[in-house]
Amino acid sequence: MNMMENKVNTIAIVGLSWGDEGKGKFVDFLAQKSDIVVRYNGGNNAGHTINADGVKYKFKLIPSGAPLEKEVIIGNGCVVDPKVLIEEIESLRKLNKKINLKLSSTAHIIFPFHKVLDGLEEISKGEYKAGTTKRGIGPTYSDKASRWGIRVYDLIHPEILKPKLKKLFHLKRELIRIYDPNWNNSFDEIFKEYKTYGEILKPFVIDTAFYLNKAIDSGKKVVFEGAQGSLLCLDHGMYPYGTSSNANVLGISAGTGIPPKKINKTLGIIKAYTSRVGEGKFPTELFNDMAHKIREQGHEYGTVTGRPRRVGWLDLFNIKYGIIINGIDKIVITLLDALQGINPLKMCTGYELDGNLLESWPIHHEIIEKCTPIYKEFKGWEEKSSDEWSKIAKLGYDAIPNTMKIYVQAIKDELQTDIAMLSIGPNRNDTIVLDENLF
Ligand code: GDP
Ligand code: IMO
Ligand code: MG
Repeated sequence: MNMMENKVNTIAIVGLSWGDEGKGKFVDFLAQKSDIVVRYNGGNNAGHTINADGVKYKFKLIPSGAPLEKEVIIGNGCVVDPKVLIEEIESLRKLNKKINLKLSSTAHIIFPFHKVLDGLEEISKGEYKAGTTKRGIGPTYSDKASRWGIRVYDLIHPEILKPKLKKLFHLKRELIRIYDPNWNNSFDEIFKEYKTYGEILKPFVIDTAFYLNKAIDSGKKVVFEGAQGSLLCLDHGMYPYGTSSNANVLGISAGTGIPPKKINKTLGIIKAYTSRVGEGKFPTELFNDMAHKIREQGHEYGTVTGRPRRVGWLDLFNIKYGIIINGIDKIVITLLDALQGINPLKMCTGYELDGNLLESWPIHHEIIEKCTPIYKEFKGWEEKSSDEWSKIAKLGYDAIPNTMKIYVQAIKDELQTDIAMLSIGPNRNDTIVLDENLF
């Protein structure tokens, strides 16, 4: 056997649901064995939480390799609010963290008018609104696609920024005034503010595609950090109730310049239940006391907006779709501890429409809302303190409750996909590794 064939130098982390699956925790976990961590999609709509060495980090833009002082790259597929990025750099500096950040010169910039339009467009969409984070994500990607966009390269060259921004500003002002005739932001102020951001960020800016390809070719180990989740993907999610980028493995090549053949392995992260922030049909959604219990036990409040997350039973039917779309090699199950004390547990294994079992996840919102989820029931496990869960994690798989073993085995059987790790607490070490040779 050729040993080189089995060597895994690059691994992609993707969420297989509607986001917040625990990607940040596992990017940080795998960063322990990596040289570089790269973000390839989204902007500060993402909120990735890492609990390590007694510190709780909440990143919106900076890749989750930062606590370990790894090299971190924001790829061209991301949209960047420079103010937020500078704040994150500052907060890491306050913690005396060494910052080794590279920012793609071709990532697109979020301006204040994008955020205003995000809010206004949501209002006019009415029932079709996604319940966005109002961070200007959609309007910035729209400008990118229509070739109005302003990129990091422009930001750090004021002589390029000024005329481009002037044209864009005037266009956006007219648009905003359709909704809000009193909007009166000043071009001069925005230009001055963003010129300063450009000066601050200039030292971090490079051609990341060339740099990263060279790094991979020289044997560096790289983790690709997905933001959002497969069901929020612009092309393969529940449109229009999702985000504006390719929130799955398919976004990596476009969002970094790394060709697909250099992505060695793809790891899908799922929660032991499902959560969703924002609008759109959620077939396994729970309400009232049960939802409240899971929300509290899993601390299900949005990292970016603080909104209570909607919660429901694990939906393996839409995850099966994500496994196909992403070519998932192995999965990680998080937040198993957060289902403690719930009995019985339910797991959705398929959808029924007009008395027929569907073969694949129906994608269209209009069909999904007519479907009925099919469930299997499982015995739950008892409540424990977080210290007890941490101790169990140290002891390993044999120490988890038997009922949890049955639940985990059922996920593996339904998905016909191996499980790489289990997570039974928020801390880096509250992790049970089932595949030591993953990366
Ligand atoms: P991401 O967007 O996919 O990175 O996920 P978030 O960070 O937005 O949300 C996941 C939340 O669950 C964070 O608060 C994590 O600290 C927390 N978390 C991750 N894994 C576990 C786990 O196994 N148990 C518990 N209790 N919390 C977890
Ligand atoms: P992470 O990376 C959960 C949701 C919003 C909204 C829709 C569109 O932490 O998993 P946008 O602001 O992107 O235009 O909003 O997508 N959304 C997320 N939900 N986790 C996220 O990121 C999300 N990023 C966007 O709630 O429904
Ligand atoms: Mg999140």
